[in-house]
Amino acid sequence: MINPFRLPEEQERIPDPAILVIFGVTGDLARRKLMPALYNLARENLLPARFAVVGFARSDWDDQKLRSEMRKAVEVFSRTPLIGPVWEDFAQHLYYFKSHYDDVEGFRRLATCLQELDAQYNIPGNRLHYVATPPVVFESIIRNLGIAGLNQPASPEGWVRIVIEKPFGTDLESAKRLNARVNEVFHEEQVFRIDHYLGKETVQNLLAFRFANSIYEPLWNQKYIDHVQITVAESVGVEARAGFYDQTGALRDMVQNHMMQLLSLMAMEPPVALEADAVRDEKVKVLRAIKRLTPPDVPKVVVRGQYGPGAINGQPVPGYRQEPGVAPNSTTETYVAMKLEIDNWRWAGVPFYLRTGKRLPKKISEIAVYFRSPPQLLFEGQLEHGFTTNVLAIQIQPNEGISLTFNAKIPGSEMRIRPVVMDFRYGSSFGMSTPEAYERLLLDAWQGDATLFIRADEVEESWRLLTPVLETWAQMPPPDFPNYPAGTWGPSEADVLLALDGRRWRRL
Ligand code: BG6
Repeated sequence: MINPFRLPEEQERIPDPAILVIFGVTGDLARRKLMPALYNLARENLLPARFAVVGFARSDWDDQKLRSEMRKAVEVFSRTPLIGPVWEDFAQHLYYFKSHYDDVEGFRRLATCLQELDAQYNIPGNRLHYVATPPVVFESIIRNLGIAGLNQPASPEGWVRIVIEKPFGTDLESAKRLNARVNEVFHEEQVFRIDHYLGKETVQNLLAFRFANSIYEPLWNQKYIDHVQITVAESVGVEARAGFYDQTGALRDMVQNHMMQLLSLMAMEPPVALEADAVRDEKVKVLRAIKRLTPPDVPKVVVRGQYGPGAINGQPVPGYRQEPGVAPNSTTETYVAMKLEIDNWRWAGVPFYLRTGKRLPKKISEIAVYFRSPPQLLFEGQLEHGFTTNVLAIQIQPNEGISLTFNAKIPGSEMRIRPVVMDFRYGSSFGMSTPEAYERLLLDAWQGDATLFIRADEVEESWRLLTPVLETWAQMPPPDFPNYPAGTWGPSEADVLLALDGRRWRRL
């Protein structure tokens, strides 16, 4: 029997009937993330009864080919096993549309095709465009959507939204230009710039942890916090993405977006409401308050690295320059560590250390908040394993959870002290698998909730901060690449960065 108390909440999450158009449906993102996410939403009855998904790409596919390719993709990449009847039902809604991204006529034909589907499914002209192509064609797609009138709802009561994948620009100028192009065709309220880190449950839990509890907020400032470490480590190498990655590097691929978002959520002031603009107003203030880096600062506070040959889990792996598709003298960084300071009332004097890299010993992302030492150390002689300051670690993945390290007395007649850990794990507390980030984000965009999407000014502020780093690096080719063996925690300069401040990276 249906539990009547659950009904309103579940019904609220069902979005309007609409057509989702995926540009670049034959690409990696659609296979690995978007289709599995849509399938899981369908499996959980979170899609409306009346919807269609139109896959747009250049390849010579048809509806049948799209359906069979996407079935294979879901079998491999879905977080839950494919259930035949659920898939069959969902696949009936998938359509393929072949065209070039720069062909205006193709977009006009697309408009007609969407109108026919509106009639077939009784959809009131609602459109969710999803740009999942390589960035070189972003501008063509956006312009042609405008020319074909696909930026306007097809009926007075309809809506149109556009989701744009990363990378959003490659520096400040290109991001500004892209924002200008987008805003020539779409109003900012229609635009959903995606950062999949914001769809991760634990990243959203950071908001809940900070603003649904009162015990930490009074401590969340320079009076009590010594420093913060944000780590996003990956053990994978460049995989089959050398073409993209070698032009991009870790600063653009991970720091500008994912890490800056983690930093903003960690450091922002309480928003006046849990609404898109209220949250984004506070995040952008953090980005604005970060102390600007000038060219002379860059070598002092930013470390770059590139992996050489090494081993992961005992298996030998090639160096970055030996990966297929990477130039043998590539100077692209696969590792970045940096120290940032937020010049505002709350955070003045608290360093934020960030590190990210490929081919590090394991995949782990966390935010670790180091609290200050007690003003007086009463137990100096009684400390076993040294003294630890309190560390609150918010683990984003894997083993999502929060742990607090503090010092405790070892049972016995003597006063001996050692650090212990208090642990909350998502898996054991909630006993359910967490949805994939893309499930949440697709649903939010479909419902018009932009809280977990990036606003134009956020993208630009983040690029404003990091563009001087890119420019400085471009003028000073790295002398020592590769400078860390695959399977280690990055170049030794990253340790020196913290050692100079009398600190160490957390052992993970
Ligand atoms: C992507 C980057 O945005 O994030 C990839 O382009 C990276 O290089 C990936 O591997 C990491 O995402 P996740 O969800 O696996 O931490």
